Amino acid sequence: MINDLHIPILTSEILSFIKDKKKLSILDCTFGRGGHSKKFLENGHCVTAFDQDDNSLIIAKRLKKSFPNIFFYKTNFKDLDKLNLNTKKFDLILLDLGFSSNQLEDKNIGLSFKNNTNLNMNYLGGDLNAYKIINHYNREELQRVFYLYGEINQSEKLAKYIISQRSIKRISTNFELIEILRDSGVNFRSKKIHFATQAFQALRIESNNELENLEIFLKKVHNFLKINAYLAIISFHSLEDRIVKTYFRNNKIHKKNNFQNKKDWGFENLTKKPITPSKLELAENNRSRSAKLRVGRFLN
Ligand SMILES: C[S@@+](CC[C@H](N)C(=O)[O-])C[C@H]1O[C@@H](n2cnc3c(N)ncnc32)[C@H](O)[C@@H]1O
Repeated sequence: MINDLHIPILTSEILSFIKDKKKLSILDCTFGRGGHSKKFLENGHCVTAFDQDDNSLIIAKRLKKSFPNIFFYKTNFKDLDKLNLNTKKFDLILLDLGFSSNQLEDKNIGLSFKNNTNLNMNYLGGDLNAYKIINHYNREELQRVFYLYGEINQSEKLAKYIISQRSIKRISTNFELIEILRDSGVNFRSKKIHFATQAFQALRIESNNELENLEIFLKKVHNFLKINAYLAIISFHSLEDRIVKTYFRNNKIHKKNNFQNKKDWGFENLTKKPITPSKLELAENNRSRSAKLRVGRFLN
């Protein structure tokens, strides 16, 4: 039995853009536990959904018994142009990035520093994982990952220390890694958060190719939007949000049909500032605390 720990985030804010609209075709690129998709289906919309997670497939099959208008594809969203989709263009496309609460608690994935698990962190079923990065990347590669994806200033010092430690003994578990981070002498800038947060974030981003997936997806998504359709993206860390913000900025419309990107399409930015969860949502769901929603309306 799959437990459902995941509570969908910013749901009413997303629905507010399409209220009064009937029978829309919606693409939910990050189905997860189907929280958002179920809301769309309950509102009478038709949902095409992606996720790379096997459990999502099981949940989608279960949901289909009550809602025949859900069409699930087990895939990476970056490959949306490689599929034979049931619908070619959509009225709303949603990305709710990152991992679900269930994946966070999954000891085989090992995303949490609360559990002593094998080093992995890959939640998309790809070949790369934290074990390979930590034990096989060279100094420059380790430094790049920690600097770019963890924003760790002393990334060179950290890379060198990890290499010295792994030459004594392979680093196999999350707790071994945490001990090494603690002993490294690196000054992690995290005061309020666990000191391993930045390093874990960096390894997770690299293991799953998170930023590249998003960038590849954004290069293609305009081909799948109807005129006046909405592109809604929820991100959970500043590196993702920066990519989304830059995408909407670089592809914004100036005045009527005057497209900034010199192409024949663009977006009206509907969220000058990103939408963040209400106090009530924050109180009910701690995971929502770093969520930022940006929405654009597609024109061509
Ligand atoms: C935050 S959860 C989504 C939760 C979902 N909105 C819900 O309400 O249940 C993110 C989901 O996106 C999936 N995911 C992340 N990156 C992906 C990618 N590049 N391709 C496919 N699925 C991805 C993860 O497997 C995870 O299930």
